[in-house]
Amino acid sequence: MKIERGLVLALEVAERRRALKVAEEVEPFTDAVKVGLPVLLSSGLDIVRNLSKRTYVLCDLKLADIPNTNRLSAACVFAAGADGVIAHAFPGRDSLLAVVEEARRHGGEVWAVTEMSHPGALELMAPVAREMVRIAVETGAAGIVAPATRPDRLKALKSIAGSLKIIAPGVGAQGGSATAAILAGADAVIVGRSIYESPEPGRVARELAEETARALKSRGGGD
Ligand code: XMP
Repeated sequence: MKIERGLVLALEVAERRRALKVAEEVEPFTDAVKVGLPVLLSSGLDIVRNLSKRTYVLCDLKLADIPNTNRLSAACVFAAGADGVIAHAFPGRDSLLAVVEEARRHGGEVWAVTEMSHPGALELMAPVAREMVRIAVETGAAGIVAPATRPDRLKALKSIAGSLKIIAPGVGAQGGSATAAILAGADAVIVGRSIYESPEPGRVARELAEETARALKSRGGGD
């Protein structure tokens, strides 16, 4: 993912026409569109083919299976034109590696989930999140997904992530701040409801991109 604007749209709009309209309006202000299961299950992989003509498409499958099933699932979205896929790190090194190897066959990237942004992630994920970052580094993931809702945790995970990029969900509807996430070390924030539930998705995305640009600048050149 070429990160220039520091903003990824989380498109969880099940109605295909509206999903494409939101994606089109927001595209000038984002680096990628993240397509999750609500969209894939309602519109099918065709929407990936469509969106991939104009932007980086990150399929949020949150893969968490045995290596073979992970590999087969990843192959489907890459064959449809996806540029990246999100996979969980918690099933272990072999499961994540299978996705990374499949991604390489297609020139794609893998983003590993470490600690999620919602409160429940503190129960089981947070205590082992550092180990999950290590697995992401060792398997050759392109980056990790870490919580914008907890900038202190994001900072701690970044200290282990080395050169891996960090994309951070949880801004807006979940209470996180784009500025705080970028200052804690995120390269881009992932934003869904604040954008697609707005009557003016393009305006909200533009304002968020302006905010991330200011934060990246004050952090010092983007990393
Ligand atoms: P909202 O509407 O809260 O959407 O702005 C957030 C988006 O990000 C996804 N999400 C996550 N994905 N790790 C992930 O890989 C996470 O920790 C995480 N938290 C939220 C969510 O599914 C939605 O698309």
